[in-house]
Amino acid sequence: MKDILTAPFLNEMMQTTANMYRLGWDERNGGNISYLLEETEVSPYLDLSHVLRTLPLGFHAPSLEGRLFLVTGTGKYFKNVEKDPETNLGIIRIAKDGQTAELLWGYQDGGKFTSELPAHLMSHMARLSVDPQHRVVMHSHPTYTLAMNYVHKLNEKELTHTLWEMCTECIVVFPDGVGVLPWMLCGTNEIGEATAKKMKEFRLVIWGMHGIYGAGKSLDETFGLIETVEKAAQIYMLTAHLPRMNTIKDEQLKQLAEFFGVSYRKDFLNL
Ligand code: 13P
Ligand code: ZN
Repeated sequence: MKDILTAPFLNEMMQTTANMYRLGWDERNGGNISYLLEETEVSPYLDLSHVLRTLPLGFHAPSLEGRLFLVTGTGKYFKNVEKDPETNLGIIRIAKDGQTAELLWGYQDGGKFTSELPAHLMSHMARLSVDPQHRVVMHSHPTYTLAMNYVHKLNEKELTHTLWEMCTECIVVFPDGVGVLPWMLCGTNEIGEATAKKMKEFRLVIWGMHGIYGAGKSLDETFGLIETVEKAAQIYMLTAHLPRMNTIKDEQLKQLAEFFGVSYRKDFLNL
């Protein structure tokens, strides 16, 4: 067996959590990530027949039976992942019953997966149903995105439209827009179900006055989606209280989307 600490998927996760912490998006234990892994990428590092512990999921994830995920631990700090991955992360496999997680590696202090696992696994199911290449669900509390929640209308059309106006490339990066959920109790199956419903249509979902969820084919792509929203929200928060002298017009947003050949939410423009 190769040393798992040299596995590319683990190193990518360590770098991503460190970057998110460095950017101030993930204070204390804020944020969580789940990364769908292929058996072939994990098997050189782990004996997949050796289950350390089993943990009930608290919900049913039938279409994920046998799937492997690298998942951040509940209560764990992104700040600490890089120096102690085996305590702060875990690799789980969804058991045949679709209701149990088999722990194959990690959570070595007796810990368990993030309290937001319902939103993660339900979102994985939703994204896989529309994109077979999908692999990552990422939750974070980015500062300006969260600040914007308090001063901007929380509806999908207006929020997406404002974000698209803030940087020329926003409509190209997230042409599908940003889904929005009102404030809801976190850590529940209900917020998981609501997030997954939005994830059929959007790769980004705002949890009102809490944070954001992103989904993508890789850690880099998903990080980039959230990073772009956060940049746009930062520009909004730096300018919202000042007289607006210039703006990107809807006709120009349309030009951008057409030039870059992205399929965008036409109903989010006012043309
Ligand atoms: P966990 O520590 O359980 O991952 O929760 C952090 C969080 O951001 C809750 O929404
Ligand atoms: Zn959170």
